[in-house]
Amino acid sequence: MKLNPQQLKEFDELGYVFMPGCFSEEEVATLRAEAEEIYKTDRQEVWREKTGAPRTAFAAHTYNEAFRLLSRHPRLVEPLQQLFGEPVYVHQFKINAKAAFEGDVWQWHQDYGTWARDDGMPEPRAMNIAVFLDEVMPINGPLMIIPKSHKHGTLAAGHDTATTSYPLWTLDKETVTRLAAEAAPPEGGAGIVAPTGRPGSVLMFHGNLVHASPPNITPYPRKIVYLTLCAVSNHITKFNRPEFIAHRDFTPIEPVADDALVEYARAYKVAAE
Ligand code: SIN
Ligand code: MN
Repeated sequence: MKLNPQQLKEFDELGYVFMPGCFSEEEVATLRAEAEEIYKTDRQEVWREKTGAPRTAFAAHTYNEAFRLLSRHPRLVEPLQQLFGEPVYVHQFKINAKAAFEGDVWQWHQDYGTWARDDGMPEPRAMNIAVFLDEVMPINGPLMIIPKSHKHGTLAAGHDTATTSYPLWTLDKETVTRLAAEAAPPEGGAGIVAPTGRPGSVLMFHGNLVHASPPNITPYPRKIVYLTLCAVSNHITKFNRPEFIAHRDFTPIEPVADDALVEYARAYKVAAE
């Protein structure tokens, strides 16, 4: 699958492309069920909120077949090969839980800020692709983004190791206020958007796009997979973080067949019967 000229223009101008219905409910239901099972395990890859609720599960593509197929899915991999003009590898893979009632905040940040500072990634030639496993609503801690903020390069940030259980290079209030004011429509309104939609929707966003998400105090969980793909020639040069957080296998991804997840979901259903 390739991005069309309109999507390429939007990506360049706004820093993101939103694709509702990219995966069918049949494809996503299996991933959702497997994510719940993974959160129940006490593997080192599963990080918890301060309350003990799951926050994120790293590297599930290395030990779970459904997530392995997702990490190599042509609907996610081919658009990035197209944007970067070369093969890509998996830099990071996480299933963020944003658990009902307990999902905590993700502070304002740029992903590339962390990849550059912690992992020595040379250029912002890597991106996060968000795949919604649950319905993302305005009320259950949606991802919030500041359109056009990717045009500002890598902004000054502080290393926040205290607010949540996960350390992050975060932006200050003045920077967020300025960028949101710049992105606000001339007729008034907010310069921050929160794409919402059914499970199976996909959001691809530039490594320098500023984003965050509020806590989830609703009874509705908000699971999102973040697949981070990096251009192979742009692989990381520092190995400070554990391998399961910042991968060191720079092998180019060979995409699987477009129907690989449907085939897996049908076999999984038969096995469960
Ligand atoms: C992230 O920015 O990496 C995660 C944000 C979220 O899951 O809300
Ligand atoms: Mn992020």
